[in-house]
Amino acid sequence: MTFHSPRGIFPSTRLRRNRQCAWIRELVCENTLTVADLIWPMFVIPGDNQSTAVASLPGVSRHSIDRLLNEVSQAIDLGIPAIAIFPVTPTSLKTDDGREATNTNNLICSTVREIRNRFADRIGIICDVALDPYTSHGHDGLLVDGCIVNDETVDVLCRQAIVQAEAGADVIAPSDMMDGRVGAIRAALDGAGFQRVLIMSYAAKYASAFYGPFRDAVGSKGSLGTGDKKTYQMQPSNSDEALHEVALDLREGADIVMVKPGMPYLDIVCRVKQEFAVPTAVYQVSGEYAMLSAAAANGWLDLRSTALESLLAFKRAGADMILTYFAAQAAKWLRERE
Ligand code: PBG
Repeated sequence: MTFHSPRGIFPSTRLRRNRQCAWIRELVCENTLTVADLIWPMFVIPGDNQSTAVASLPGVSRHSIDRLLNEVSQAIDLGIPAIAIFPVTPTSLKTDDGREATNTNNLICSTVREIRNRFADRIGIICDVALDPYTSHGHDGLLVDGCIVNDETVDVLCRQAIVQAEAGADVIAPSDMMDGRVGAIRAALDGAGFQRVLIMSYAAKYASAFYGPFRDAVGSKGSLGTGDKKTYQMQPSNSDEALHEVALDLREGADIVMVKPGMPYLDIVCRVKQEFAVPTAVYQVSGEYAMLSAAAANGWLDLRSTALESLLAFKRAGADMILTYFAAQAAKWLRERE
């Protein structure tokens, strides 16, 4: 696009005129970040009255259900529309086939039931669908002879989605990157009477090195060891392929598509939004949070302004919603600004 100013160029055109005072900067502001854009990812651990810090995610803790309820209550008070909950599974429950994923009384299902009981529909509950919290090898799918088998995995993911929907999840978020899983999960949910449950697909999810602190938090790093997820997550070099992934997930019934990670992939967010004009989420992942926090802890960056700037950048790129570990803090910062 080319812009033609009717009055030509400098000196008649001076872009600084629109920047000279706060009032005019506000009027010409093109994008805004609000609390209504935020989704807060949370980690749940077994037990009662327990909280453990995540060393690589300063300010983020894993909580037992009773304490997590306080966090959820805080999210509601702050006006955060939805949370995404991730379970930490004890090693003793991790198996080759990740069967704990489909246990109706597993940690995530119990958590969702309690949140639903206590808060009804005052906050959206998003549950990840993938096997990595439950497999002894740390992969998102079933491992057979060194390969992640697609279709067998999809069958298990459908059952996982159903137990989560039964527990009361509003949104099923497949983060596994198996082919065809969105369509299969949609059909499974509909078949079980869960037509109203949404699917937020991790559509363009890259095999990124920025997930490290998350894997620390849920304890899947040790399981995965030196393995990687390159046979199912996308390679960082690709952009057209992201559009292909999104197109397929939409055709299969995704209600919301996600790009992940966030800041290194703003170009993907922008292309996805421009191409499809559908609800688009972006995940500011653990490594992004860790980088900003570490720099701030060293006094090298100002946390508040860099975090808010990074979140605003997602809006500018076209994201409608942002999963971020800064959600609660950002909500407070935004409130102070008002
Ligand atoms: C699990 C999952 C991951 C994240 C969200 N869901 C990790 C992975 O794929 O290894 C990453 C989130 C983050 O880094 O904040 N499938």
